[in-house]
Amino acid sequence: MSGEGQVQAQASVARAHWSSRWGFFLVTVGSAVGLGNIWKFPYMTGSNGGSAFVLVYLACILIIGVPLLMAETLLGRRGQASPVGTMRALVAEAGAQRFWVVIGYVGIIGSFLILAFYSVVAGWVLEYTWQAAGGFAAASKEVFAQAFADLLANPARLIFWHSLFMAMTAVVVLGGVTAGIERANKIMMPGLFAILLFLVGYGAYAADLPAAWRFLFHFDASALNRGVLFAAMGHAFFTLSLGMGAIITYGSYLDRDTSIPKICLQVAVADTVVALLAGLSIFSVVFAQGLAPEAGPGLLLQTLPLAFSQMPGGQAIGFLFFVLVVFAAWTSSISLLEPSVTLLVERFAMGRRQAVLCVTLAIWLLGVAVAFSFNDWKGFSLFGLGLFDLLDTATTKFLMPLAGLLIALFTAWVMRRADVAEEIGLRGAAFVFWYRVLAFVSPVAILIIFLHVLGVLG
Ligand code: PHE
Repeated sequence: MSGEGQVQAQASVARAHWSSRWGFFLVTVGSAVGLGNIWKFPYMTGSNGGSAFVLVYLACILIIGVPLLMAETLLGRRGQASPVGTMRALVAEAGAQRFWVVIGYVGIIGSFLILAFYSVVAGWVLEYTWQAAGGFAAASKEVFAQAFADLLANPARLIFWHSLFMAMTAVVVLGGVTAGIERANKIMMPGLFAILLFLVGYGAYAADLPAAWRFLFHFDASALNRGVLFAAMGHAFFTLSLGMGAIITYGSYLDRDTSIPKICLQVAVADTVVALLAGLSIFSVVFAQGLAPEAGPGLLLQTLPLAFSQMPGGQAIGFLFFVLVVFAAWTSSISLLEPSVTLLVERFAMGRRQAVLCVTLAIWLLGVAVAFSFNDWKGFSLFGLGLFDLLDTATTKFLMPLAGLLIALFTAWVMRRADVAEEIGLRGAAFVFWYRVLAFVSPVAILIIFLHVLGVLG
């Protein structure tokens, strides 16, 4: 049987599929829209000079992000298996070196490591959602900063919320591809959009939307520098969930009739719109209260609660806002758990339930270590980084660009061109353009990020 025959035989036997293209769109947007959009993007914009960062970020999404998102979805749909199984099938089909299966392993390891710290951050958000429900008591800036520091100093609280969040994630993945993952996204993603629109509307009405608009969109070339450039490139990967097995896995549940380029473009647009709207609503509130935009990672958890404690209707608005962040984090973490689960099911013929239990437990354990890295184990460091920063750096600065580079090279240089063309469904100039970007532009851009990162580490 030819490689392709095998691939298609596998597809028709066991693989679950999304119920519609709308289902795939929602789960993929669910994966992409996460803490990256609502926590990282605003604070990175705030500390990287506002509009200059936004402009470079938009360019990176277009030049590196979208072509890679298309390539990764293509790999998953053609392979119809876990990231590792997919790469095995495609390597066989192309008659390529087994080395390329490493793309699958990097994805599995990366998603595993990201979820371990992502879940701890999502745990902070759960704690703040809980507090927001009761309303934040008006207090000074220092008091809010201290409250966040107190949370980090308390391992029991961190572990409690991290455990709850892992359990929430596991429950959805236990439900399976359509009844679990797709259904959860069909509820949460429209909910997220509705809350976001409401909050931006509120920003226009009661907070300082014009100031936020100026900050994000009035381009100021003087703020542009190398640091801004690289921060924006790295973030483009993170926000589109690239290279970490999530997109390959979701692509593997996609049926053959859906046009990959169109839907990937729509996903990238939706992800970007959410980041920009989140930025607008957050900075409207920040500026209306006369607070500073460059608060760093604490922007979401120190600056915003302070703003909510002072503004009219702050209790309801604050609570809605944190529910939105929970939805965003939850739908992303689902996409981080599924790749390892599908691998265990495939390799060890485990049932889904057993696989979910094993993976969740292992990630939970690493997350517990992350929780301790903020307090009791603060002394432990490697390359001068604590466990939290180490995992963040290893994945977003190293594994993601590495996987992105390999995916671009594999798709454009290793797979047979006819197979790629058939799967992507683009013709003529559009195909050639995408193919060339993937073959030349994306790899070069990623290599530049890499060299920069190595310079930073070394
Ligand atoms: N894209 C998600 C976010 O922005 C994070 C993520 C990365 C999810 C990699 C899956 C895979 O928060």
